[in-house]
Amino acid sequence: MEIVILPTPADVARTAADAIEQQVRSGPSVLGLATGSTPLGTYQELTERHRNGLSFAGAQAFLLDEYVGLPSAHPQSYHSVIREEFVDGVDFPAGAVHGLDGVAEDLEAEAARYEAAITAAGGVDLQILGIGTDGHVGFNEPMSSLGSRTRIKTLTQQTRRDNARFFADPADVPDHVLTQGLGTIREARHLLLLAMGEAKAEAIAAAVEGPVAAACPASALQLHPHVTVLVDEAAASRLAHREYYQDTFGRKPAWQGL
Ligand code: PGA
Repeated sequence: MEIVILPTPADVARTAADAIEQQVRSGPSVLGLATGSTPLGTYQELTERHRNGLSFAGAQAFLLDEYVGLPSAHPQSYHSVIREEFVDGVDFPAGAVHGLDGVAEDLEAEAARYEAAITAAGGVDLQILGIGTDGHVGFNEPMSSLGSRTRIKTLTQQTRRDNARFFADPADVPDHVLTQGLGTIREARHLLLLAMGEAKAEAIAAAVEGPVAAACPASALQLHPHVTVLVDEAAASRLAHREYYQDTFGRKPAWQGL
């Protein structure tokens, strides 16, 4: 894993946008998009760059997860959120942004269809990830199998409380989700894990420096050959080896990129 500690959330957003821009400019690309608050600055940065000429016309994208029971037109479905926060402001081709159907009659079949669609697209080149305060990535809650595939999961009450801010009534946060599994996520060629703020510091420390354990699903990323962790100072505050990461990144040859 490469741990990059940056002064502010805006620096995290810019650096993530740089990696995505480089991917998109390199040729036809498959992006993995996350929702939640964490990537919003990155999406704003990319939208701004699109106004200045960056094109997503050669890209397609797959969302990480979706609430079960919310039709795609619901304002809090991740279909709607990603359109509002990113997709409507750039130029992906029609039909190029794929999500899970949270109201599919057969959720297992929907999960299998999604896995097949990712494979048919050639796999994900660059996957953006946030992390939950309980260490989840996607909606893989603690004790998710490290080899899991796309499937239905039950949200922890902690995640439901964390996400209640998006809903009029906390009771409206769905109990269930469809999410890419940890095994699915780990097949993306480059993982970009973003975290900002003190509330994420413990989860980041467990993910990066703790043991690989289902109790912290994000720790499964330690098994991946190409992971970049972009954190601000607050999210990095519980890392034991902060100085080492800063020293290493400071001396990194520029040609290596992320
Ligand atoms: P957040 O959520 O970006 O809204 O903090 C991250 C997550 O739950 O994965």
